Amino acid sequence: MRLLLLLLWPTALCPGGGGEAEPADLQGPTSYRVIQISSFANSSWAQNQGSGWLGDMQIHGWDADAGRAVFLKPWSKGNFSDEEMVELEEIIQVYLSGFILEVQDHAPEFQMQYPFEIQGVAGCQLHPDGGTVSFLRGALGGLDFLSLKNHSCVPAPEGGSRAQRICELILQYEGIRDIAEKLLFETCPRFLLGLLDAGKADLRRPVRPEVWLSAGPSPRPGRLQLVCHVSGFYPKPVWVTWMRGQQEQQGTRQGDVLPHADGTWYLQATLDVAAGEAAGLSCRVKHSSLGGQDMVLHWGNSISIGLISLAIILPVLIFLIGLPFWLWRRWSYQSIS
Ligand SMILES: *[C@@H]1O[C@H](CO)[C@@H](O)[C@H](O)[C@H]1NC(C)=O
Ligand SMILES: *[C@@H]1O[C@H](CO)[C@@H](O)[C@H](O)[C@H]1NC(C)=O
Ligand SMILES: *[C@@H]1O[C@H](CO)[C@@H](O)[C@H](O)[C@H]1NC(C)=O
Repeated sequence: MRLLLLLLWPTALCPGGGGEAEPADLQGPTSYRVIQISSFANSSWAQNQGSGWLGDMQIHGWDADAGRAVFLKPWSKGNFSDEEMVELEEIIQVYLSGFILEVQDHAPEFQMQYPFEIQGVAGCQLHPDGGTVSFLRGALGGLDFLSLKNHSCVPAPEGGSRAQRICELILQYEGIRDIAEKLLFETCPRFLLGLLDAGKADLRRPVRPEVWLSAGPSPRPGRLQLVCHVSGFYPKPVWVTWMRGQQEQQGTRQGDVLPHADGTWYLQATLDVAAGEAAGLSCRVKHSSLGGQDMVLHWGNSISIGLISLAIILPVLIFLIGLPFWLWRRWSYQSIS
């Protein structure tokens, strides 16, 4: 029974899916998943980290000391009542603390070498045909270990005989499988639909990126690294490339899309060019927030625009500051005479 807990729950509740690719849709998120990361430093020390994600957006944290969920958005409870949320938190708390005890207990039997880490993802995703698909995957030491397919536990090849034995074991524990299946196939889709509705104002509102150019560290003498920064956009899908006229520059390299704390995203695209060839290059950005109007920044222009504004503003400033002095002096001459 305990083993069962160890195997099933991890897979069942939290673990699971991870790799399910989010369809590249511009309509907003279509999946909810919980992620569990359990770190075992030695036979007496372990910790759990948990989080809940709607698409790419983290909406739940887990306070392991209090055994409570942390609601990161005003709508993170979807349409669930406080009572139902508390019930879920209790299930998760019992599961997570039980998970650590069971793993520690069975570590010798399964020849687990400290330190090690277990990761799990489980959740559900809307299907274009209107239904939902649930998923669950577990990993050990960063390698796939087992997953749920067609309601059965499938050991990953990387998991070897250990994963096979654990899957066989899980088969025998119907009670826990029932709870896990209910959470995955009944609770999750209901929760996901409620979340998408409760958060729709936030989820559908696109945020325009700020775009600027800079020179990166010179790759080698005589070369320039042009950097196009695209920052603060939502949702995540974005298209950024360096262009010469209408010609996409094949040498454009994109970094990873990185998260800002406020849920928006950052991406940079770099291009390595000969110093004399930078003129005429531009960075082009397409994003759903731009209403079909691409943003285009020309290399060099940002500097000349800056200089032009300075050339206009400076005389105006001098004039505005000088005017009162001139008037005052004129006035004092007049009052003397
Ligand atoms: C177990 O690991 C923790 C965290 O790394 C460490 O503080 C503790 O001293 C370790 N205990 C033993 C018995 O090695
Ligand atoms: C799913 O499992 C059922 C029963 O175990 C089986 O009849 C069915 O063929 C399986 N479907 C797939 C796609 O493997
Ligand atoms: C929440 O919304 C979903 C989808 O509209 C619905 O199926 C469910 O009954 C609602 N209420 C609860 C408590 O899940």
